[in-house]
Amino acid sequence: MTGAPNNAADEAAAGLDLRRGLVPRSIFADPSVYDLEQQQIFRRCWLFLGHEGQIPNTGDYLTTRMADTNIIVCRDVDGHVRALVNSCRHRGNAVCRTDGGNSRTFTCPYHGWAYDLQGKRVESGGLINVPGMKPYYNDKLDLNEWGLVPVAKVESYRGLIFGTFDPEAPTLEEFLGEMRWAIDMILDRGDLRPTPGVVRWRSDANWKFAADNGGDNAHVQITHRSAFLAFSKLNGAPVPKVGTANPGFTILTKYGHMGNFQTGLGNHKPDLSKGFQFASNTGMEYWRNRPETIAKLGPLKTSVMRYNINIFPNLFIIDRLFIVRHPVAPSEMEQRFTALYDASTPEHVQAEELRTTYRRLGPTGFLEQEDGENFIESTRGTSYSTVMDRDLNYAMGIDEQEIVDDGQSPPRITTMLNEHGQLWFYRNWAAAVSGRPWPLPHPEAKVEAVR
Ligand code: FES
Ligand SMILES: [Fe+2]
Repeated sequence: MTGAPNNAADEAAAGLDLRRGLVPRSIFADPSVYDLEQQQIFRRCWLFLGHEGQIPNTGDYLTTRMADTNIIVCRDVDGHVRALVNSCRHRGNAVCRTDGGNSRTFTCPYHGWAYDLQGKRVESGGLINVPGMKPYYNDKLDLNEWGLVPVAKVESYRGLIFGTFDPEAPTLEEFLGEMRWAIDMILDRGDLRPTPGVVRWRSDANWKFAADNGGDNAHVQITHRSAFLAFSKLNGAPVPKVGTANPGFTILTKYGHMGNFQTGLGNHKPDLSKGFQFASNTGMEYWRNRPETIAKLGPLKTSVMRYNINIFPNLFIIDRLFIVRHPVAPSEMEQRFTALYDASTPEHVQAEELRTTYRRLGPTGFLEQEDGENFIESTRGTSYSTVMDRDLNYAMGIDEQEIVDDGQSPPRITTMLNEHGQLWFYRNWAAAVSGRPWPLPHPEAKVEAVR
């Protein structure tokens, strides 16, 4: 995707030359860029918080992050989902130390200030008790003024909870925009529910390398070759060859969301009687046996076998995993994932789906370890002052794209082996860090121009 004129100034200001596919090394490990991103991207965009099924009842809560900020997500007494900054108003301590549970109050372990889910006096997160109110404060502390700080807006899309610190942000539905097409495709394939528990891990990598990998289909045959070789021995799956262009397409939508979608089942029909699956697995493919699901999806969505999606800025969706890459330092990210499974399948299918999930991704996943090593080394390499003036190359397929706009999906680029997704991500990154108020500039893409 070449740079569009209306975004050229933002790109130039950030040191990008996307018309030529060039991204400077300086935007990765630099602490000042990290600060800018925290302010202009992670304080403004909608960020994924979890799934409503994780907190179905009053008092249910989970803890997570919004970039550098610890967050409590809870269901209040009225059934609403709330998100509160997990930092006591007295000295800033974390008032909740667990990954999740059920509670009517959050009591700070430092001096005991207690906060309600939805206090009588104030809204959710209100301060309801201070030990020593009379002897220490002479009853002069106004509890209404010292509640936990709420996240400005919290909304759900089909059970997926997002929050934003920016009261001026557009609605979640507007923000997700046409990429809802892909989210709907995933959710329409079964009765998807979250698995219990939390998976999180840290690595010394800049979050953008993980995000831009969401558009990267050229690394698979190299980075993951050893895994494919192992799988081939176990279940007969073919080993992808370098230069093989898998059938598929790429979709880029407003605010920087990108997705690529591989179609068809190739020549390999997975043997579902074998427990060890990779390219396709029992749980993920179960919906293919349901005529009503196929009818609902329609031919294009039915043909999609595999997909990688990045909801700007940092929500990566692969299979039924929703992985958030939280930047917690210039060269460090904390990843957390929410795994969904199809509750309408038999139990042994659910078990297989979970096994396949954890085998591939997360801290126990071989794909994750292979990708993670790349993200870490790329981050290290972009910290070398000796080569800081040598840009990174994102020019694959830059001047080649055929676009189909047939109403079956948002306009789609007819290949998935290109770097349009990454360029789209960085174009929108440049627009976001420019610091303009909403609506953030969403640079015209060729895919939008064809309408
Ligand atoms: S820091 Fe929370 S009560 Fe003092
Ligand atoms: Fe990978």
